[in-house]
Amino acid sequence: MLLEGIVRIRAVVSLVVVGVVCAVLYAGRGAASQVAQADISGTWVAKAQGPMGAMEIVFKLMVKDGKITGSQGLPFGESPIVDGAVTGDTFHFTVALESFGDIRNKEVTGKIVGDTLVLTPAMPGPPPGMGAGLGTGPGGPPPGDEPGAGAGSGPGGGRRFQIGEVTARRGTPTPSYRAPSVDYASLPKVELPALKDVPSNGLAKTPPMGWNSWNKFRTHIDDKTVRGIADAMVSSGMKDAGYKYVIIDDGWQGSRDANGVLAPNPNFPDMKALAAYVHAKGLYLGTYSSPGPRTCGGFEGSYGHEEQDAQMYASWGVDYLKYDWCSASRVWKDGDMQAAYQKMGAALQAATKTTGRPIVYALCQYGRAKVETWGPQVGANLWRTTGDIRDRYDSMAKIGFAQTELAAYAGPGHWNDPDMLEIGNGGMTPDEYRTHFSLWAMIAAPLLSGNDLRSLTPEIREILLNKEVIAVDQDSLGKGGSKMAEDGDIVIWKKPLASGDVAVAMFNRGTVAAKATVGWNLLNLKRKAPAVRDLWAHSDLGRFEDLYSTTVPPHGVVMLRVSGK
Ligand code: GLA
Repeated sequence: MLLEGIVRIRAVVSLVVVGVVCAVLYAGRGAASQVAQADISGTWVAKAQGPMGAMEIVFKLMVKDGKITGSQGLPFGESPIVDGAVTGDTFHFTVALESFGDIRNKEVTGKIVGDTLVLTPAMPGPPPGMGAGLGTGPGGPPPGDEPGAGAGSGPGGGRRFQIGEVTARRGTPTPSYRAPSVDYASLPKVELPALKDVPSNGLAKTPPMGWNSWNKFRTHIDDKTVRGIADAMVSSGMKDAGYKYVIIDDGWQGSRDANGVLAPNPNFPDMKALAAYVHAKGLYLGTYSSPGPRTCGGFEGSYGHEEQDAQMYASWGVDYLKYDWCSASRVWKDGDMQAAYQKMGAALQAATKTTGRPIVYALCQYGRAKVETWGPQVGANLWRTTGDIRDRYDSMAKIGFAQTELAAYAGPGHWNDPDMLEIGNGGMTPDEYRTHFSLWAMIAAPLLSGNDLRSLTPEIREILLNKEVIAVDQDSLGKGGSKMAEDGDIVIWKKPLASGDVAVAMFNRGTVAAKATVGWNLLNLKRKAPAVRDLWAHSDLGRFEDLYSTTVPPHGVVMLRVSGK
């Protein structure tokens, strides 16, 4: 009896439990089917507080039969959503991100919570060869907004750049001058020319020197700032030291009219007047575009308007064009690069014919497709050899020391460009900035300062205006320097100079001071006991029989001119 009673009670309890579970399951299914019917089509805006401060991420979603398409917009460009679905109160989609010429698909999963979407945005990977956490995709955030920026720069310094979970709400994105989304699937094809050598434009016999807006200002650039920089370039003595090009990078563009004519955005009310202002100071003006429909920052590119844009730049008085691959990787393959760059190279030269305005042509495709082997053939005067530099020793050193391989491709009229200078932006020590400047001079790299020249400190001014180091960079022989010896943290480079002298840079890549020795047997000098001059101390050190030995500070450099005759 007792046993029977217990069994019966258990059965009743079980029935009740099953009933409750069923009710819960049923309620759950009801809620899920309701959410599945909820349409998440529309524009969703998330404000991310974190590594980038007040950053806005915009999701433009279209849902049809449960499938999601649309785009994800970051402050540095918009990426198509290539696949996705909503299931109940969860969703997932794939974002096709562009990162230094690679298209990488990244999965995003999220939840519908009330009238919000909770998700972790897809972020582009770090620049090639820079390892995780050392950068963002092209068009990355301003240096001051980046985690770890300004916080010193020892190896491994700087935290990973990423955004965690965000909450997106229906809304209108903050207006900007960025161009509207592109439907890459239905984009009309631009025919590329058959390969043919574009003759040399005869410019840039020595590596171009000047200033570029990107490293400091990103897309927050305007006419007033550019004029101020031109003024400062003269008053600081930089112009006299050889800095001539004032280059406006991404963010100047507005929209095209019905005839395809591109207007600058209201931050640049009159480009012709700006060019005239810069020219009146004995300086040159540079600008920026992309062979793709969009620049890396999401502004209007030159795709399908190459000739028209080239003519317009020349008519404004533009003397330099940086042409950045960016969204072209959504349209073409690396194998098409040469033809795409040739198209603009030829267009610039045609524009010079009609206007008389010579234009330096700077390629920026991050060193892909062995650009150093065909750059001169598309009429280029310089080509980027890497992803984007960051204002940190590890980034700068990784880029700079890798350039030794490319030395043979540098020469008068055509230069390897390891990216603009970060000197003065605050993320490296003075010794590290001296290494940066010395290394770029040894490479025979373009010397494009990337800081705010209106507020130069004496220490930074002394680095950027070191005429003896500049003379090594600008030497008329135009030879790229290269590594001649390496011993532990000490790396020694040499660069032959037109006078028969040899520039020698002894770098210490370590974090403690170290002794460095250079033997003359490695320099092919004609003379015995050459005279040695220290280009940072600005002093003659005397004659040395077989070698010169010194102590190099951590992350620092000792740069010498060794007399050859
Ligand atoms: C890329 C380039 C940078 C800069 C930005 C502009 O990242 O490599 O030098 O021009 O685009 O968006």
